[in-house]
Amino acid sequence: MAFFSGNKQADDQDETAKNIFLFTLNQKNVLITGANGQLGNEMRRASVKHENNFKFFFTDVAELDITNRDAIDAFVKENHIKYIINCAAYTAVDKAEDDIDLCYKLNRDAAINLGIVATNNGAKVIHISTDYVYDGTASTPYKETANVNPQSVYGKSKQEGEAGLMEACPDSIIIRTAWLYSIFGNNFVKTMIKYGKERDTLNVVADQTGTPTNAADLANAIIKILDFSVANKFESGIYHYSNEGVTTWYDFTLAIHKDAGITTCKVNPITTDQYPTKATRPQYSVLDKTKIKTTFNISIPTWEESLNICIKELLSI
Ligand SMILES: NC(=O)c1ccc[n+]([C@@H]2O[C@H](COP(=O)([O-])OP(=O)(O)OC[C@H]3O[C@@H](n4cnc5c(N)ncnc54)[C@H](OP(=O)(O)O)[C@@H]3O)[C@@H](O)[C@H]2O)c1
Repeated sequence: MAFFSGNKQADDQDETAKNIFLFTLNQKNVLITGANGQLGNEMRRASVKHENNFKFFFTDVAELDITNRDAIDAFVKENHIKYIINCAAYTAVDKAEDDIDLCYKLNRDAAINLGIVATNNGAKVIHISTDYVYDGTASTPYKETANVNPQSVYGKSKQEGEAGLMEACPDSIIIRTAWLYSIFGNNFVKTMIKYGKERDTLNVVADQTGTPTNAADLANAIIKILDFSVANKFESGIYHYSNEGVTTWYDFTLAIHKDAGITTCKVNPITTDQYPTKATRPQYSVLDKTKIKTTFNISIPTWEESLNICIKELLSI
């Protein structure tokens, strides 16, 4: 391709053409799956903040069904995808106990699909997993090397998805997160605000300990990981991400009501036994985040400050 002729106007045009050509050549195309979910929507917002020449393709089941391997392969080929960020999942934890096939299809088989397609096309995967891979019997924060022992269909399907993905595409990053909420979708924060406004009293489990995660923070961390991967190398492996700090669902609820200005609802602490659910939850699922912070130079806000930001935004909508 000739970019210079000696004629000024033609050379200016050639310079522009050359820049467009180089820009396109260097472009890193990123596929986001499950883009209509909590995290997927936060990825849409976070994606404007990157420092590289990324082009994002946001898809949900209507545009790209990740249970269909051929469809993923065609999409990845056609759009020259270099990174796949999998935000899609079966996340209805209690429903999963009866809806086993669909849960595994999405959380295990589709993760493997993405890994196979990535390997065949020279792409890399960033996949999201969960604290439910742990049994919750620990009393100190879980490191990524801790034994997995999921206690629910959802947890087992996610754990098998992790293992299957790593086998299909060892060059993957898996981020286990916990207690995810956002201004998008349905989640604990929104439910507690709703109930807090409607009810005089509310009983909330006080013997399950963990850390909430504002999906906006996780999305920003994923963008940082992408930037880091271009500037340095793709550091494959398993990582933990939640906000900083530790709480219980009960104390989380008190903070939600305080930030939302709800004063008319009395919140009572109860035990897990007093609130039976179909799926078993981890009693303790605090995640040690040292690895993700040191590897990618990520600083993580506390759950209190991130909750405050989310609720301010929710109240302004
Ligand atoms: N939510 C939590 O508390 C939590 C905690 C720990 C870890 N995680 C993990 O974090 C990740 C993100 O969770 P999230 O809360 O953002 O999930 P979410 O809000 O449930 O979003 C998942 C998205 O995936 C879509 N989807 C369903 N089937 C699909 C298919 N076949 N192909 C493509 N997309 C499909 C869903 O569409 P439909 O809505 O139409 O089904 C939805 O838009 C998941 O991996 C989850 O396991 C979540």
